[in-house]
Amino acid sequence: MEVIVYPDAGALALAAARRIARLVRERSADVFTIALAGGSTPAATYAALLDEDVPWDRVYGWIGDERFVPHDHPDSNTSMARRAIVEASGMTFLPVPWRDGATADELAAEYESALLGILDHDDSGPRPDLMLLGMGDDGHTLSLFPDTDALAVTDRWFTANWVASKDTWRLTATYPLAHRSREIIFLVAGGGKAAALRQVLEPADGEAILPSTGILDGGARVTFLVDAAAAAELVATETVPGIPPD
Ligand code: 6PG
Repeated sequence: MEVIVYPDAGALALAAARRIARLVRERSADVFTIALAGGSTPAATYAALLDEDVPWDRVYGWIGDERFVPHDHPDSNTSMARRAIVEASGMTFLPVPWRDGATADELAAEYESALLGILDHDDSGPRPDLMLLGMGDDGHTLSLFPDTDALAVTDRWFTANWVASKDTWRLTATYPLAHRSREIIFLVAGGGKAAALRQVLEPADGEAILPSTGILDGGARVTFLVDAAAAAELVATETVPGIPPD
């Protein structure tokens, strides 16, 4: 696991875009699958990525987690991803399905089945190439929120998750799927994330283990790309200074 600290969110976004583009170019397979993160942080990275040299015809995007809303809802990650990068890049994309009247469980199961049809795999199951993850100020990632049932799911790659703190259903990749990814890049920016990032990376005795920490338990190569504000409370973590791309 590596933590690279950039001076500000702009430098972080540009460096993240360059790293992602390089990963796609370097992977010789016919298809490179990438889980697109929801929320607001990735927007700058998506914009920067459109200016990079990426063989988009080999990229297959999917959604790491989704809100339980129609695609025309302002909270839809599927629609945010379409607007932010899918349409402009021309990548192939697997939207999370929505049908009025369908349950979150039904939609999650349908998406899991569709994902298994696009992701690389080996004898142990699917192998995502890259997952982009954000992190909330409570240490959640994807829609794996503290004190929710999805944290304990071991027999599914994608699941519905009731999030009592938000009084809503979410749909999310599970730890088993994240642990099978070849690469994971966390994008974390802003001082509001500093306390959670410290607890994720440097949990003190007796402190709760936050959901983002659980991502580190698998076989993925995990890189945290963070800005200085988000890294402000890290004391025990070896960090690498991020050289802002020219
Ligand atoms: C979502 C995300 C979620 C997000 C974090 C950080 O659907 O909201 O997938 O896990 O990455 O909440 O969100 P911000 O980038 O907006 O801070």
